[in-house]
Amino acid sequence: MTTTRTQVAIVGAGPAGLLLSHLLHRTGIESIVIDNRGYEQIAGTIRAGILEAGSVRLLVDSGVSDRVLTEGMRHDGVVLRFHGENHRIDFQDLVGESVWLYPQTEVFLDLSARRAADGGDVRYGVTDTVVDIAGARPVVTFTESDGTRVEVAADLLIGADGSRSMCRHAFPAGVRDEWFREYPFAWFGFLVEAPPSHDELIYTRSDFGFALISQRTSTMQRMYFQCRPDERPEDWDDDRIWTEMRKRVNGNGFELAEGPISAKTVLPFRSFVTAPMRHDKLLLAGDAAHTVPPTGAKGLNLALADVAVLAESIADFYGTGDADVLDRYTERALDRVWRAQHFSYWATTMLHTAADASPFDRQRQHGELSMLTGSRHGAAYFAEAYTGWQHPK
Ligand code: PHB
Repeated sequence: MTTTRTQVAIVGAGPAGLLLSHLLHRTGIESIVIDNRGYEQIAGTIRAGILEAGSVRLLVDSGVSDRVLTEGMRHDGVVLRFHGENHRIDFQDLVGESVWLYPQTEVFLDLSARRAADGGDVRYGVTDTVVDIAGARPVVTFTESDGTRVEVAADLLIGADGSRSMCRHAFPAGVRDEWFREYPFAWFGFLVEAPPSHDELIYTRSDFGFALISQRTSTMQRMYFQCRPDERPEDWDDDRIWTEMRKRVNGNGFELAEGPISAKTVLPFRSFVTAPMRHDKLLLAGDAAHTVPPTGAKGLNLALADVAVLAESIADFYGTGDADVLDRYTERALDRVWRAQHFSYWATTMLHTAADASPFDRQRQHGELSMLTGSRHGAAYFAEAYTGWQHPK
């Protein structure tokens, strides 16, 4: 057994864990990051693709990389399609902001390269991780890929370990609340080898269900359609998928650019929040503390926003020596979390059709979409939420 000391031990080497390690390094605080997934496994996972303006500023201004500006694609608006017609929400005109299409995998690659260049201690592919917060210092124990058992004692332990977080479960019973909502549908996601069908994303409401047309590169698109939560990717061949997509999206002169399909997955739909995000020396960030349904692409952005606040709280903790300043973290992060919960829930319910939706429900949804796209104030409300709120002070 090897025993090590560090200031901050971080469980999870996704974007939240790596960005935290990077921001702490910039203020002279050392950390060790571990993940039970291998580097290749994290890099190979397809996740959402939209970064809010504030997320882009955070990555660029903190020196992670400016690749998002050179290789990402700036989107100044988005299309809501219903009744077979496109309605564009012009972000620049309405709120003077944009979003960037830059897949989460690229964010991960940039962060891990930056940590490596700065001599960061990131250990991928560890096994048998155990966290213990009962003693004077939090301790995390794990086995390295070469078989060495390692014990890390830290001042603070961060759970950035995703929606199935083991760190969240290390909170003692009864100290945190949970809020949870399930939806009666999921998304079927897939990659399409064909150039973009449109220059901006299209969120479509149809009586056959929701569909989203997104992109990855000039030759690759990412698309999703609403499906049952128990749908199995192997039951859907290309023909069946295109028949479904055409029904939902094509019409009035618009046609999807079709091509060979790969990377089929079913994404669960859940809304979840736990608070407080801190207990003693253990703090949660990103999906470990909250998940949103993917409509609106808030998950990664929320994780990065958490970490911006958390890095400041940790710097305050070392500056003042007072652990109570860490309590401000939950308070500051949670306001944005609940705004994003509302937005993701609202966009989901506005655009999806429940199997038991009544004719009244369907007409009302059209009224809602018409009110949103037909009013400058309605459209600005959507644009502000989609491009993201200012990072909290
Ligand atoms: C994606 O490109 O993967 C994507 C875009 C927007 C969303 C969700 C996913 O709301």
